[in-house]
Amino acid sequence: MNTQELDKRHVIHSWSVNDKLNPKVINESAGMYFSDADGNRYLEFSSALVNLNLGHQHPTVIAALKEQADKLCYIHPGFANESRSEAARAIAEVTPGDLNQVFFTTSGADANENAIKFARFFTGRTKLMAKYRSYHGATMGAISLTGDNRRTPAEPGIPGVVHFPDPFSYRPPHGVAEEDLAAHALDHLRYLIEWEGKDSIAAIFLESVAGSGGGYHSLPDGYLKGVRDLCDEFGILLVCDEVMVGFGRTGKWFACEHYDVVPDIITMAKGLTNGYVPLGAVAVSDRIMEKLNAEKLWAGLTYNGHPLGCATAAACIKVYHEENLIENAAKMGAIVDARFAKMKADHAIIGDVRNIGLFGCIELVSDRNAKTPIAAELQAKLKPMLMARGLSTLVKGHIIFVGPPLIITEDLLHEGLDIIESVIKDLK
Ligand SMILES: Cc1ncc(COP(=O)(O)O)c(C=O)c1O
Repeated sequence: MNTQELDKRHVIHSWSVNDKLNPKVINESAGMYFSDADGNRYLEFSSALVNLNLGHQHPTVIAALKEQADKLCYIHPGFANESRSEAARAIAEVTPGDLNQVFFTTSGADANENAIKFARFFTGRTKLMAKYRSYHGATMGAISLTGDNRRTPAEPGIPGVVHFPDPFSYRPPHGVAEEDLAAHALDHLRYLIEWEGKDSIAAIFLESVAGSGGGYHSLPDGYLKGVRDLCDEFGILLVCDEVMVGFGRTGKWFACEHYDVVPDIITMAKGLTNGYVPLGAVAVSDRIMEKLNAEKLWAGLTYNGHPLGCATAAACIKVYHEENLIENAAKMGAIVDARFAKMKADHAIIGDVRNIGLFGCIELVSDRNAKTPIAAELQAKLKPMLMARGLSTLVKGHIIFVGPPLIITEDLLHEGLDIIESVIKDLK
């Protein structure tokens, strides 16, 4: 059997109707491109699952990974190890405020699982709050925090999670005007906190900029600061999920910096290792660790602080610094903003465009006023049309996502956006 036949017979793919799948075989990649077994080359325009921030096969990261593999592939997590100490130091250096201690996990989902535990241990409370338009991972606690439709098939999830509507300007709850969104959402959140029992809530989990669960959108001015204030007022911890937007994606190291807010905990993964090795992390403030360091920590993983992951993370952070990639994301983001604005002006099918740094999306609608998503038959054509024109990016229903690796050049950015615009023009 060839690769595709073996895949069909033995591999279970995530988030798919497996019977309907016939995935392309990909064996090679370099920089901004990957190629299929038939020799077709694709421009990487979503950084795979928004994790390949440094693109494919970055030589510095691969060299560090190989060096670590030659030296020490694994060690009992109870020992100290150079790769882990260095990765934790490098993370503490780029996280805001006093988030100086790091617990390593294997993914974004289990970073959130462990953040739940840390918050419960610290506060002695059990309830958790999270937005409806959110995704926090597929493991049981993380999927229970998740608000979007990936949660419902997993229900009943863990008890004690309360969801709240978020201030999304394109599709606001209750038709609230844009300028009132933050205040309205904060009022509602206060109401929920009081009615749920203000002394029972351990943490509020928020994506600093909403990702796949929310169709990429920033929080309105003043909102995250307002949530921080509510947390301080009621002794609740603020956990910013930066799994997707951390490490420069939005033009800052962490997206919460756009709002000048320092959370108590940041969860991260994806760009931490550029996707080359599975690794997540929970960065925790000194204030919390002052208490937790004195107690037994009832949390652990066989792969806690895996040397291959940690060496990769340390190398990635070095590359972000050396190649000025956070700055490049902000600079390229200005180009996306301008192109998006022009595309929206030129094509009535575009209902909304949103972008921050290299984290953007285009919503396609059949009616701009009603904001009705384009028909399912048109939605189904988007991905194949983009791929046929040599561009790979995420498409979710009527939304095309734009999130290329942060190494992208101006020319390639225009090339990718040209392909997207040509597909939007020809879609029928
Ligand atoms: C915001 C956010 N949190 C958590 C996760 C879960 O990360 P992982 O798939 O590594 O478990 C994701 C994955 O897309 C995410 O976007």
